[in-house]
Amino acid sequence: GITRHYKFNIKMQNVTRLCQTKSIVTVNGQFPGPRIIAREGDRLLIKVVNQVQYNVTLHWHGIRQLRSGWADGPAYITQCPIQTGQAYVYNFTITGQKGTLFWHAHISWLRVTVYGPIVILPRRHSSYPFPQPFKEVPILFGEWWKADTETVINQAMQTGGAPNISDAYTINGLPGPFYNCSAKDTFKLKVKPGKTYLLRLINAALNDELFFSIGNHTLTVVETDAVYVKPFKTHIVLITPGQTTNVLLKAKSKVPKSNFAMAARPYATGPASFDNTTTIGILEYEKSSSSSKNSQNLPLLKPVLPKFNDSTYALKFSKQIRSLATAKFPAKVPKKVDRQFFFTVGLGILPCSQNQTCSNNNTRAAAGVNNVSFVQPNIALLQAHFFNQSKGVYTTDFPTNPPFKFNYTGTPPKNIMLNSGTKVVVLPFNTSVELVMQDTSILGAESHPLHLHGFNFFVVGMGVGNYDPKKDHAKFNLIDPAERNTVGVPAGGWVAIRFLADNPGVWFMHCHLEVHTSWGLKMAWVVNDGKGRKQKLLPPPSDLPKC
Ligand code: C2O
Repeated sequence: GITRHYKFNIKMQNVTRLCQTKSIVTVNGQFPGPRIIAREGDRLLIKVVNQVQYNVTLHWHGIRQLRSGWADGPAYITQCPIQTGQAYVYNFTITGQKGTLFWHAHISWLRVTVYGPIVILPRRHSSYPFPQPFKEVPILFGEWWKADTETVINQAMQTGGAPNISDAYTINGLPGPFYNCSAKDTFKLKVKPGKTYLLRLINAALNDELFFSIGNHTLTVVETDAVYVKPFKTHIVLITPGQTTNVLLKAKSKVPKSNFAMAARPYATGPASFDNTTTIGILEYEKSSSSSKNSQNLPLLKPVLPKFNDSTYALKFSKQIRSLATAKFPAKVPKKVDRQFFFTVGLGILPCSQNQTCSNNNTRAAAGVNNVSFVQPNIALLQAHFFNQSKGVYTTDFPTNPPFKFNYTGTPPKNIMLNSGTKVVVLPFNTSVELVMQDTSILGAESHPLHLHGFNFFVVGMGVGNYDPKKDHAKFNLIDPAERNTVGVPAGGWVAIRFLADNPGVWFMHCHLEVHTSWGLKMAWVVNDGKGRKQKLLPPPSDLPKC
């Protein structure tokens, strides 16, 4: 591979959407941010200079960061923030990965405007396991608030309740014609008849899983989370925040007499469910010179999307995703398991803190894993781990099982008060882990897109209701399970994953719904060094920000 240099200046930029202008945090003044393009095996040196009044970190979502955890980016997990006026070079090599990923800010809620695509092409002279597309197009989904980001965060953090929902969903930063004052801010994709396009779908929205569909067109799913999958056809894609999905779009052979809406809108479960709005992009056919009709005046053909709470469709879609599992692209599912974990993920309450104004008997909404709501430390866990200074920073007693058993998907227990703490699980190098995550119905069953840093995992099982350790375990798919970095724990259901802890460092795992992350639905795995020379975390770079 080669070394590629990028310079990311974090700076404010005025952007107008929905007829209102506001100043947002951006990279190089671009919204969405610049595209990173590399090949498998390349090394990236991305110099980030902070020119705004906020602390910043960037995360390369889905990049494995083998032994290079210092470049992973989650604030106070692998690094202290880059402060105003400071710079930090993210230095990492792309090992064994190709496809679509994305980068985003990983501190507070800054990722609402600070995100962009990562495109990893296969090594030179190697090709896709599907027909070479005519063109490749990143499609980033996002959310837009009219209020400034600070106001949105404060509202969410200080009321102890759910945040205000966004004013619009966006496609490549544009809300589209279904919103007031937004018709000119519509993403347009022009295609040539008969050609095949690779759409690199990225869900960078803060708090919503999304259904996506294109009127009167079929999509072929070929890759998820930068891993090839067994191709399958679908009209509707479900994509959670943190997930990426590559689909092939075959343009019709003749120029049709309409344009087609590319539509996305939320799949929403849980107590704050709502049927909100739809963001629209427009798929247009390039007209041949002979046809006179202006594509502007053509009717817009819209797709039919599932109901906002259609969990049956959501589960069916997720279960369709399978690894290629061929000789060339094997699925390296850990066959033996060294350690088993059972984590409940869900909401609960915590006592209201002093700077908050909570309504409910001085409690606030919170979330946790095995009843532990994670407390962000003041110095980065990775630093504490590397320098053997964990005392007073984190404890290693993260529970491997929930503190008490109950009917997780039935009536919630009386006491829904969570504990809080900065707790981690420590794993010896190369531990093979099996983890079942069970959604709880405390404050309502809800789908949680869980994201693991530092690893891809295999989704060996998934179902509704309470996980049954005998029946369900016997049915695990160890042949061709999906390999990914983010998986939706089904609303009122469970998911089972396996991964090999072959990457020394400290690795964050959290719900990729920003509000749930803020409420504490997160934890960290500490993977110790192995014995071999290549089994150790590299030392920290000299420019690593200090707290
Ligand atoms: Cu996409 Cu912890 O992040």
